[in-house]
Amino acid sequence: MQIDVLTIFPEFFGQVFDFGIIRRAKLAGIVEISVHDIREFAADKHKMTDDRPFGGGDGMVMKPEPIFAAVEHLLGTSDRDAYPPGTKVVLLSPQGHPLKQRHVKELADETERMIVICGRYEGVDERVNETLVTDEISIGDYVLSGGEPAAVVLVDAMVRLLPEALGSETSAENDSFSNGLLDCPHYTRPAEFRGMSVPEVLLNGNHAEIEKWRREKALEKTTKFRKDLLIGENGEM
Ligand SMILES: C[S@@+](CC[C@H](N)C(=O)[O-])C[C@H]1O[C@@H](n2cnc3c(N)ncnc32)[C@H](O)[C@@H]1O
Repeated sequence: MQIDVLTIFPEFFGQVFDFGIIRRAKLAGIVEISVHDIREFAADKHKMTDDRPFGGGDGMVMKPEPIFAAVEHLLGTSDRDAYPPGTKVVLLSPQGHPLKQRHVKELADETERMIVICGRYEGVDERVNETLVTDEISIGDYVLSGGEPAAVVLVDAMVRLLPEALGSETSAENDSFSNGLLDCPHYTRPAEFRGMSVPEVLLNGNHAEIEKWRREKALEKTTKFRKDLLIGENGEM
């Protein structure tokens, strides 16, 4: 997968994609991540990327021209219907589709090329959304000052689901949300720590019992903290 992040603050990303699973995926050639400065695509001599809002009001709005130019540079077109198959142009926005694990999985499965647009100020000129963007995504019901932290969240969540990115020692199958439940509790050595013991069942080597305990605990945690996950789309439990 090729991911291109468009931002006016490329320095923000520093080494953020150079650790753990993402670093390993990059080294294995599973993903390539490039960060581009939107300013470099501004044609005017002041390299302006934002301007005052039509209709008045507070704040600035990110201009469409540099973003169109960046997408055209990367994809050879700004015609959404002419994007190569498997291409997603994502706009990060609190008004977008709330990001859930199943959506992340779909993106990881279906995407070959992704351009991620990070907004700032009051947001991005709506014509970008209307014509360039295939997916407008929100990472939650709160407002960040910029799309950059959201881009890190999206890329991290997605890259770890790419085939072979996690390596053989771990799997995303039992992660929270993957099977509709939160994950079960985990313990490691020492078995006894400051008077707190690891549940006996995890020490007895009986895999069927361990699986049953994990399932029960996952259900217990989900019921306690995220009952909404147990309620189906039609409202049934
Ligand atoms: C201050 S916000 C703009 C908020 C916008 N005026 C609104 O109320 O919907 C600036 C940028 O941060 C990013 N952003 C803020 N909150 C976000 C969220 N929850 N999910 C994804 N991106 C977000 C977007 O790229 C947005 O354009």
